[in-house]
Amino acid sequence: MRILLTGSNGQVGTEFRKLGQNAAEIISTGSRELDLTREEEIRRFVRDAKPNVIVNAAAFSDVDAAERNWDACFALNAMAPVVLAEEAHRLDALLIHYSTDQVFDGSKSEPYTEKDRTSPLNVYGASKAAGEQGIASSFAPALILRLSWIYSAQGDNFLRSILRLAKHSTELQIANDQAGAPTSARSIARATERLIRMYANSRKTQFPTGIYHLTAAGATTWHGFALALLDATFQQRKPIVLPISTTEHSSFARRPKNSLLSCQKFLTTFGFQLPSWQQQLEEVLAEITVQSAVETVPAPSTSSIATRPD
Ligand SMILES: NC(=O)c1ccc[n+]([C@@H]2O[C@H](COP(=O)([O-])OP(=O)(O)OC[C@H]3O[C@@H](n4cnc5c(N)ncnc54)[C@H](OP(=O)(O)O)[C@@H]3O)[C@@H](O)[C@H]2O)c1
Repeated sequence: MRILLTGSNGQVGTEFRKLGQNAAEIISTGSRELDLTREEEIRRFVRDAKPNVIVNAAAFSDVDAAERNWDACFALNAMAPVVLAEEAHRLDALLIHYSTDQVFDGSKSEPYTEKDRTSPLNVYGASKAAGEQGIASSFAPALILRLSWIYSAQGDNFLRSILRLAKHSTELQIANDQAGAPTSARSIARATERLIRMYANSRKTQFPTGIYHLTAAGATTWHGFALALLDATFQQRKPIVLPISTTEHSSFARRPKNSLLSCQKFLTTFGFQLPSWQQQLEEVLAEITVQSAVETVPAPSTSSIATRPD
């Protein structure tokens, strides 16, 4: 299997690159190697690389910045996936693309299923929904995996921000009115690798492509996630974590209140599911030390955190 990976410096891309380095042939690209805002560059690159599978882990994922950068956001999240899908179709390759819970408005009281209609609240969600629709219209063999609340031991994410803030704060205010399932980038990379193995061992025409939800099992809030990660990290001195509502936090883009995605279709189709969010947290915390998080995460201007990068 020859795999073309985009977004190889991002959270999911980094984990996928690390996992696959000994097995498959992976052509890893970040924005320097392949600028996904340039359509002709994408087509030329894919035609030269001739992959069997394209894993598109690149995205414009700064949800607040997307509100002011509509063009760039749509170029990366809507145009590029469609061009990748068209080129995958041309090569008879599989496209694995990641989407988001933010294609939904979060008003449903139950976890969202793949049958629910998309109705994004913000520019980022709208661009990801447009990417999904464009891929579907291309007729490329494609797996679209909707993820939520991604974090990892590296990069800029909620977990690392909380660990850094906890070192210097006596009190943190964290939103308690958004429900979701924090999911480690590594668990997504592992599942992606497993899906590629299944694809390699299947008849291409019978491989069950389409849209699937893929998140950690279970549910919590950002407040619940922060409490769990601080309890697991600090034995004695740790900050008080106060629950606040999202409206008390000054984030720019609107976020869904309910980010929970039902992963039943994925389980029924592929026969496995991701571990619980608590198990995933334990694994990531085992990898990270508070000190290394403190040294490398840039300081945010507030100790009130209601959202995450995506
Ligand atoms: N983060 C979340 O909470 C979350 C939740 C749900 C779904 N998702 C989806 O999951 C996927 C992976 O997310 P992630 O958190 O791993 O993303 P991430 O860490 O933000 O990484 C995104 C990558 O996109 C690349 N990129 C940006 N502009 C580019 C350009 N013009 N050309 C090529 N590459 C470009 C960047 O590459 P360079 O570093 O090389 O510039 C960056 O490493 C995305 O599709 C995202 O929408 C994420």
